[in-house]
Amino acid sequence: MIWIPSILLIICCMRLVESSRCPQTCICDNIRSSVICTNKNLTKVPASIPQFTKKLDLRSNDLKLIPGATFAFIPYLTYLNLQKCNIEMIQEGAFRGLGRLVYLNLGFNHIRFIYQESFDGLSSLQHLILEKNQLEEINPGAFSQLGFLNFLNLRDNFLVYLADMLFQGLQQVKWISLSNNMINVLANEAFAGLPNLRRLSLDHNELQYLPGEAFSRMSGLLKLELGWNPITFLGEEAVHMTSLKQLFLNNMALQDVSFRAFERSPQLSLIDLSNNQLRTIQVLTGMEKLNYLNMTGNAIRCDCHLSPFKEWADRLRLKVDLTCFGPGHIHGDHLDSLRAKDLKCDGHNVEEDYIISVPQEKNQSLCPESCDCKTDVKHATCDNKGLQEIPKGFPDETILLDLHKNLFNSVPRHIFSNMKNVISLHLQNCQIRELKLGALSGMKSLVYLYLSNNLVSGINQAVFQDTPNLGYLYLDHNRFSKIPTGTFRYLPNLFSLHMQHNSIATLTNNNMYGAKKLHWVYLTGNNISHIAPTAFRNIQNLKKLHLDDNLLTKVPTEALKGNPSIEELKLSNNPIRYIGNGAFLPISRSLKHLYLNNMGLEKISGDGFTGLGRGFKSLYLENNKLSNLPNMKNFNRLEVINLANNPFQCDCQLLALHRWINTLNLKVGATCASPATLKGQKVRSASLPACPSSTRINDDPR
Ligand SMILES: *[C@@H]1O[C@H](CO)[C@@H](O)[C@H](O)[C@H]1NC(C)=O
Ligand SMILES: *[C@@H]1O[C@H](CO)[C@@H](O)[C@H](O)[C@H]1NC(C)=O
Ligand SMILES: *[C@@H]1O[C@H](CO)[C@@H](O)[C@H](O)[C@H]1NC(C)=O
Ligand SMILES: *[C@@H]1O[C@H](CO)[C@@H](O)[C@H](O)[C@H]1NC(C)=O
Repeated sequence: MIWIPSILLIICCMRLVESSRCPQTCICDNIRSSVICTNKNLTKVPASIPQFTKKLDLRSNDLKLIPGATFAFIPYLTYLNLQKCNIEMIQEGAFRGLGRLVYLNLGFNHIRFIYQESFDGLSSLQHLILEKNQLEEINPGAFSQLGFLNFLNLRDNFLVYLADMLFQGLQQVKWISLSNNMINVLANEAFAGLPNLRRLSLDHNELQYLPGEAFSRMSGLLKLELGWNPITFLGEEAVHMTSLKQLFLNNMALQDVSFRAFERSPQLSLIDLSNNQLRTIQVLTGMEKLNYLNMTGNAIRCDCHLSPFKEWADRLRLKVDLTCFGPGHIHGDHLDSLRAKDLKCDGHNVEEDYIISVPQEKNQSLCPESCDCKTDVKHATCDNKGLQEIPKGFPDETILLDLHKNLFNSVPRHIFSNMKNVISLHLQNCQIRELKLGALSGMKSLVYLYLSNNLVSGINQAVFQDTPNLGYLYLDHNRFSKIPTGTFRYLPNLFSLHMQHNSIATLTNNNMYGAKKLHWVYLTGNNISHIAPTAFRNIQNLKKLHLDDNLLTKVPTEALKGNPSIEELKLSNNPIRYIGNGAFLPISRSLKHLYLNNMGLEKISGDGFTGLGRGFKSLYLENNKLSNLPNMKNFNRLEVINLANNPFQCDCQLLALHRWINTLNLKVGATCASPATLKGQKVRSASLPACPSSTRINDDPR
């Protein structure tokens, strides 16, 4: 009874001593033991942070490096936020001593590498956030000390490959997010040893086939997000995950799903197959628990072939979202509104090509020496073997053929003549100078061709005569000095053309003629100084055009005239100093994202952005020499705008911009460069002088 007050007294005095020890630039809340030092441009963690601090918020500083044992003097931390601190490197043992830390946020930094001992000592950590960094590779063991981690967030990095045992030690982890990386290969044991993993997000990556074996290691997984990966095909028993309940396969490039694909995942209750290229769906075997199947956005023909599926779905009381694409008289009808017996075939179209062709099992025993042929995933690889000739004798049913990093010099004719099922061919980094006529003959299923990082300077147009289904062509980092005009008439299904980092100097008249379905064109990092007004004629479906890092001196307005669908235009890093009236008018109805950063841009004329506004989402103007901007009133749906590093002249002429910025709920980054009294202030908060009433303010509503 008597000693309780004295303890209170001691605690109270400790707090008093503590409170006198708040770093000057920070705000300390001694009751909650929290310290906030956000947006302070700190280059070091302040040494005078009170010892008993539990919560430390250091967002938006300039730490660059986290040396070993940085936080050892504040061992009671449970929450540490280091978002946006320009961190490039975390030294080994950086967090040593933080055995009570539960939450660590390292998002939005520039971390490229994680050392084996970067996270040593974080034995209580539950949340680790590494989103929006520059991680290209993570070595197995990096997370081995994090036995209590619940959630690992690796979204928005540059990961390409996940090695065996990468997540080793994460005994308690429940959710790993790897969304928005560039992952195209998963080692078979990448997800081994994760007994509590319930959710895995792998959407928006570059997986071209379903890594069934790697997935089968996750015995407790409930939810798997795989949308937006360019997977074209799901074979028998492709998904083998005994406890999986929800599977998202939306927005991929699926053309065929075996009716036995999910057989070994009997707990599935939801499958999302929306926005693929499926033309029919069969009765899915082994799916007793399925209660929702999303087939929205596929071109399904609701005819007699769909009738068994419909009967099955009705019997199972399966909810199916499916809108019929054909036949004509029920186009647009929801499957729910039809009865199984309404699904008929007219005599004449029974044999039409929409009946899916199931790839046939043939002789599987073949595989060239020094290659590895996986018959289950129909995947053959001989990458990085120093081969000087392209091997022959791959299994006929191969879908993915990976030959990258060899020394082929050229691709001879008929070399792939039995490879009629290959969808994806990898020939990057092979010192290839030439594709001989007939080099791709026989490859009639080819959709992805990777020839990046070779020495090719031209391609005989008829080479592509044999690949009418080619959708994605990677010719980046080669020696092209012009677009291989003429080849495109053989590529009616080309969707995405990658020609960045070549030495193309001009884009001539109609140089992609024939590529009717071309949506994305990447020409970053060439030497383009001239674009003919008719350069992009006949590619009316163009949605994304990257012309950044070239030598353009003006916006190619004329050339954009035939392309009313462009949504994203990148012109960053071109020496464009001035943008004139109506520069984007031809694409103003479709444009959503415009990149005009790092150009030395000095002025945008008053009507430079005419037409833009509705539907416009992001505008990048950072690192230029702009002192003012034209009227932006119509830009009322913006989600991103970056005006940082421009010398805004904060006089009365800037009032319109200042007012407009204050209507936005966005970070803008605009600061004043002049007059001297306002230098360095944010345009948003600077108090600008009013203009004398005689001066017209550039604020007229148009
Ligand atoms: C941040 O600090 C750096 C040098 O440490 C300085 O050059 C820069 O001007 C500072 N920026 C702000 C906004 O205070
Ligand atoms: C089905 O897919 C479409 C398209 O991806 C999506 O908009 C819709 O929300 C999905 N339905 C359900 C119930 O998830
Ligand atoms: C597969 O090919 C090998 C070698 O060419 C042959 O010996 C074998 O009989 C073939 N098997 C089948 C099932 O065709
Ligand atoms: C780009 O053009 C400049 C001169 O116009 C030339 O010096 C340079 O070599 C060219 N670069 C390439 C990669 O072709």
